Amino acid sequence: MITQDLQKLLNIAFKNAGYECECTVIESNRPELCDYQCDDAFKLAKTYRTSPMNIANAVIAELDKMTDVGEYFTRFEFVTPGFINLTLSDSFINKCLVDIDSSENFGLKTDAPKTYFLDYGGPNIAKPLHVGHLRSAIVGESVKRILTFAGHKTISDVHLGDYGLQIGQVIYGLKEKNISIDEISLEVLEKLYPEMSARCKEDEELKEKCATITKDLQEGNEEYAKYWKVICEISGNDIKRLYKYLDVSFDMWEGESGAYKYLPTLFEKYKAENKLLQSQGAYVIPVAKETDTTEIPPLIFRKSNGAYLYGSTDIATVYERRENFDIDHFLYFTDLRQGLHFEQVFRSCEILGLGKREDFTHCPFGTVNGTDGKPFKTRAGDNPKLDSLFNQVKETLIANKEGLEDSKPEDLDILVNAIIKFADFQNNRERDYIFDIEKFSKISGKTGPYILYTYLRLNKILESENLDNLKLNNLAKTKTDRDLRLSLLSIYKYFNKALEEKMPSYICEYIYNVCNFANSFYENNRIRSEENLEVKNDWLYLISITTKILKNMLKVLIIDIPSVM
Ligand code: ARG
Repeated sequence: MITQDLQKLLNIAFKNAGYECECTVIESNRPELCDYQCDDAFKLAKTYRTSPMNIANAVIAELDKMTDVGEYFTRFEFVTPGFINLTLSDSFINKCLVDIDSSENFGLKTDAPKTYFLDYGGPNIAKPLHVGHLRSAIVGESVKRILTFAGHKTISDVHLGDYGLQIGQVIYGLKEKNISIDEISLEVLEKLYPEMSARCKEDEELKEKCATITKDLQEGNEEYAKYWKVICEISGNDIKRLYKYLDVSFDMWEGESGAYKYLPTLFEKYKAENKLLQSQGAYVIPVAKETDTTEIPPLIFRKSNGAYLYGSTDIATVYERRENFDIDHFLYFTDLRQGLHFEQVFRSCEILGLGKREDFTHCPFGTVNGTDGKPFKTRAGDNPKLDSLFNQVKETLIANKEGLEDSKPEDLDILVNAIIKFADFQNNRERDYIFDIEKFSKISGKTGPYILYTYLRLNKILESENLDNLKLNNLAKTKTDRDLRLSLLSIYKYFNKALEEKMPSYICEYIYNVCNFANSFYENNRIRSEENLEVKNDWLYLISITTKILKNMLKVLIIDIPSVM
């Protein structure tokens, strides 16, 4: 890896100059001055009680004595007040590019693979999926792909909300309206749930009745179970259809209901182990710590009426997953507002012997807002369902670019996906963002269509040329050529940050930078008509590695490539 190579070299220079140090080399903050930089002289100055300039100066002098330094740098210098600036030699850039190209997964594979369990999607049965459900599904899927690309093992579960209050409400409505089990359809459910949910908000007594149905179902009522099975199947199929459109997949389609078979046994077990505290008839797990700065209330494991809650099912699910798989780390993708819930669950798991607190990570995300700054709604109004979002994006895209209306339907769907996903992923996932369909469906700017357009543009050159025996031989011929080569090397930095922080936005950043450099390279060099065949060969190689990297990184962002645009 490039920065590690450079660090190794610099460490020797630091040592020869009399300073013990594991230095850090980073990409330059001032690309007009140098390519990479090292700022360790500032830290060392404190330890060695001297000035950063003295150290940087001595390190440069030592570098100068090293015989192989010319292979790496064309220039290395210290600048006030103690920075070490490094300009890479073109041959070193080429060597790194060839390394990336010839290594499996660009050399991003870990040599210490772990098993991650990812819990994402989390849609609720019988409630129509809306825009708010999009993020968990696509962010989770993308993080799964990042982990796999890095060589880790993943297991994924959609964890359906299939046993909650909404089920009791829908069953109540079906019975009230005399809708028999074989008359249940998606249309029926789509109408019934909003109606019942609104009525329950107004009518406390009705809400209680529906809650009792849910509780009876959870306790094994056979009549309700018959309704429930059909509701799950119909609603589940629709959820599967939408996830298929988004190319989001799961190893397991389990739900909250699956946890119920463990709950009575676990309750007895934890009670016997004195892990549960009795509190006003309920059984709770106190999770607060002295070091807490905000109050973390106990997790309620069992209510006084014997009912189990969201927290208990999450704990039982961890128990089940631990029984079935060897898992190093758990990741949960839900919106920010569930932060406290997961903190309680994770701490409880540690108390109950289901792992250490740090084996669990909540990967939260913010809200998708509309241009009015309020939670996103489609033109269709207050029910921002995913289907209408997809349609609205498609219409806007077609209106913005002539000729697209005649595209293949698959290509249009790929573009719709690219628009939605690139818009979503480019933000730090923890922040709310404004989903501006107009802006995100444009071919210019930081958008999915821009990236795909760039890819296709480059790929078109490759299609018309002979690509046998492409090799990178020569030094960069022009500035835009060198800039593109250099920008590709940042893959390590961005990919590893995305991996560490479970944040696809870094990959968007990388792809976007590369596309910008690729476009200026394309626009400033006559690639097809270049007469010097060695230079042309190099450029074709450069384009081929650029498209290869783009394609793979887009795949990680669940974005496919259309045939034309
Ligand atoms: N169904 C839940 C909701 O809509 C999300 C489930 C998240 N996963 C979990 N293991 N709790 O809020």
